[in-house]
Amino acid sequence: MKCLKAFVYFVFLFFGVQACKKQLHLDTNLSSQASIKIGEVGSMTGSEATFGISTHQGILLALDEINHTGGIGGRKLELITLDDQGKSSEAVLAITKLISQDKVHAILGEVASSLSLAMAPIAQQHQVPMISPSSINSRLTAQGDYIFRVCFMDFFQSKIMANFARYTLDAQSVAILRDIKSDYSGDSAKIFSDFFSRAGGKIVLHQTYSAGDIDFKSQLTAIRALNPDLIFVPGYYTEAALIARQRRELGIKAPLLGGDGWDSPKLKEIGGSDLDGSYFVGHFSADDPSELVQKFISGYKSKFGGISPDGLAALGYDAALLLGDALRRSKPPGFLDLREAITHTREFRGATGKITFGADRNAVKSAFIFRLTNGGNSKLAVRMDPG
Ligand code: PHE
Repeated sequence: MKCLKAFVYFVFLFFGVQACKKQLHLDTNLSSQASIKIGEVGSMTGSEATFGISTHQGILLALDEINHTGGIGGRKLELITLDDQGKSSEAVLAITKLISQDKVHAILGEVASSLSLAMAPIAQQHQVPMISPSSINSRLTAQGDYIFRVCFMDFFQSKIMANFARYTLDAQSVAILRDIKSDYSGDSAKIFSDFFSRAGGKIVLHQTYSAGDIDFKSQLTAIRALNPDLIFVPGYYTEAALIARQRRELGIKAPLLGGDGWDSPKLKEIGGSDLDGSYFVGHFSADDPSELVQKFISGYKSKFGGISPDGLAALGYDAALLLGDALRRSKPPGFLDLREAITHTREFRGATGKITFGADRNAVKSAFIFRLTNGGNSKLAVRMDPG
């Protein structure tokens, strides 16, 4: 009996140890191949939904390319995406969760400057690098040395728009209609008026609206009374397109001028031919014949059912590829020097141009001015280089 007991113990012990060994082996295997977590915060729903969706798709394409070529040192990049519905409060909750619970190595986002400005202090406090693909507000990267952007800045955008209005379109007078809730809109309006006035033009009226408004008739009526040559609308696509429609209904002939916030397929859907004759700035031109840009466009189209990428898709793609490049140059398994690796990015070639980070963690790049024609289609008017 004793013998049998001992035998049973022995059998259990033997298989137990084998099972443990197996478990251990599995764990070691897993940890050497564990994915590298990246967080993304974006507006996947709400009135800026195309910002989040396009950016997300650009990021997915970049991660596919990285993962299909062996990932980073054999480890795959894993994206955890949270929808902030275009709201600052949700963006703050999302970044907090990604950092504290999911333990991501870096954050990609946000698009809208106000939301990126709300998120940046959290990334900085936890020392997790945050790369905004597309927030142009100058104050963003000043939040701390963990905050980067891969797009040009509001100073550049508003300066080229003011000069374009004054010298190319020969405008003498401009009325401004801006979003009172948005850091992007407010700062862009201010910089534009400084440059336009310096160029000898006159800002005849400042008017405001709030994101989510659908009726702009009273502001446009006030603008109509002053008969300006142009109306500058540094807002996002939904409101800009509605403003274009109501401007036509009120019989205003002055074209509209917009910033990068107009860049969405929805602009044309909502505004159609009422946008014709107006202009806006973008980060990306599909007309660029370079191999890199054309490869990006065809890769995007084949992954997303024939849809053409917009500027946000291109910026999302660039932000994710640049992060992959920095991860390759940083030390696994913890990537604790990732911030430095991103800082040392030089001449990184993306779909939206070359990116080099200076001490201020901003990118200096070209912009494209598009003219809307033939039912709201964008046609490249001019490319503006920095300097
Ligand atoms: N630049 C805008 C902002 O700072 C966001 C944006 C970028 C929107 C590019 C559309 C295209 O808020």
